[in-house]
Amino acid sequence: MNIGTQYLGLEIKSPVVVASCGLSRNLDNLKRLEDAGAGAIVLKSVFEEEIIFDIKRNTHVIAPVNNYGVSYDYISRQVADDSMQRYLDFVAEAKRSLSIPLVSSIHCYSYENWVTYAKQIQEAGSDALEINISLLPYETSVSGDDIARTFNDIVLTLKKVTTLPIGVKVGAHFTDMAKFMQQLSWMGVQGITLFAKEMPLDVDIEAEEIKYGRHFSHPEEFYNTLLWVTLLSKQVRCGIAASSGVSSSDDVVKLILAGAETVQVASCLYQNGLDYVRQLNDGLGQWMQAKGYDSLSQFRGKLAMKGNEKNSLQLRTQFMAHYDDV
Ligand SMILES: Cc1cc2nc3c(=O)[nH]c(=O)nc-3n(C[C@H](O)[C@H](O)[C@H](O)COP(=O)(O)O)c2cc1C
Repeated sequence: MNIGTQYLGLEIKSPVVVASCGLSRNLDNLKRLEDAGAGAIVLKSVFEEEIIFDIKRNTHVIAPVNNYGVSYDYISRQVADDSMQRYLDFVAEAKRSLSIPLVSSIHCYSYENWVTYAKQIQEAGSDALEINISLLPYETSVSGDDIARTFNDIVLTLKKVTTLPIGVKVGAHFTDMAKFMQQLSWMGVQGITLFAKEMPLDVDIEAEEIKYGRHFSHPEEFYNTLLWVTLLSKQVRCGIAASSGVSSSDDVVKLILAGAETVQVASCLYQNGLDYVRQLNDGLGQWMQAKGYDSLSQFRGKLAMKGNEKNSLQLRTQFMAHYDDV
């Protein structure tokens, strides 16, 4: 039986991909995840803010920015290069030690700062690039078109400077989800990751303050991921990596039936240990064996739904059937 698949156009041995998280910034962890059977690993992101903050902090230590005038640009570039160099060194070292694909990750909201670095990430040995464009659409001055333009600018600029396969990791809030994801896939990206994590916001009712901080996904989050993979997988021209709330091998099976090329996992590895990847693979294999499938392509997308009137009606009538008389 073969549980191999493609991810961002790369052949991988398992659809279980480690999502970008703290576990993937440590070489020992990477080796253990490879041994446990991960198909690929997305490395911990470099954050655009991190680089910019690093630039500001370090340039303040060196000298007040205003006194530096013209040379500020040069100093900022040096500091940013140092931050990036640490990342590139890690990529190169990881690449020497592992044989599964390693995907670098950039967490960004603009494109200017990444043009130089995308090329260096490729030269360091990354097999692909995942960009997490986290834009929560809450500013009234920003329209859906503005957001689409930002995605466009980032993707098209990166495609000019690197030949690496590109995956785009998106949040779960778009007014025109299906149309936008389709357009994104038409831009020539090799994959879309549904969904990036949004920081859960809570309220401390004693202190009457906003608080943040639940790091790990709740298994319930899986159903939003499953819904959108089911609705989008037949409508995009690239592979979908399903992420958020995946916690069991049954979830992996469901997402592949819905049309996902791969699943990405983070929280369940923190909670169950790195070896849990093996359990996910084994569970998938056992289900396939029981069903008589030899490969993922025999059942991938079997339950995917096309965006058409018949399916819209089906979703509406299901809603009525389940909630009308409760
Ligand atoms: C501790 C932790 C650190 C994370 N760091 C990143 C990151 O650097 N970049 C990123 O794109 N996603 C990051 N994520 C989000 C994960 O990649 C993933 O999208 C999210 O956790 C949903 O998957 P899960 O339900 O399997 O946890 C992080 C998640 C966790 C739990």
